[in-house]
Amino acid sequence: MIKKSDNLTLTQSQRKRLISEAESSAQQAYAPYSRFRVGAAVLAASGKIYRGANIENASYGLSTCAERVALAATMVAGEARIIAIAVACVDAPPDAPLEHKLPCGACRQWLQELAPDAPIFVSGEERSFRLPDLLPHGFTLA
Ligand code: THU
Repeated sequence: MIKKSDNLTLTQSQRKRLISEAESSAQQAYAPYSRFRVGAAVLAASGKIYRGANIENASYGLSTCAERVALAATMVAGEARIIAIAVACVDAPPDAPLEHKLPCGACRQWLQELAPDAPIFVSGEERSFRLPDLLPHGFTLA
């Protein structure tokens, strides 16, 4: 649980807390094929945090990313709004390029639908990211 003020900007300690939830979620990853564990943590409007990790499958294409697991958990809990999301690619080396640590294209499309205004925090990166910068001209209907 993170206590929120009306101000949508998270404090540095709230940001750190969300990133640390994402890092610990990665311990629950099921990634025997890639051995690349990813954790995600969503802060919802209620102040609750919903966690996800990547869950792979022997039929590789059926694997699911950490971000989408966390987003689905948030939706199923009936949360009205998503405030922020953190992602932790705990098996990426510390000097890995940023592109090894950012949400994949499919997760960006999910974020556009469910959390278009939420800042995206990445473990090991000081700055936060905004969805329109990561997915310009994403697909929409109507
Ligand atoms: N993965 C995620 O969980 N999130 C992303 O945004 C990128 C990739 C997972 C999928 C797969 O289990 C592993 O990382 C290697 O691609």
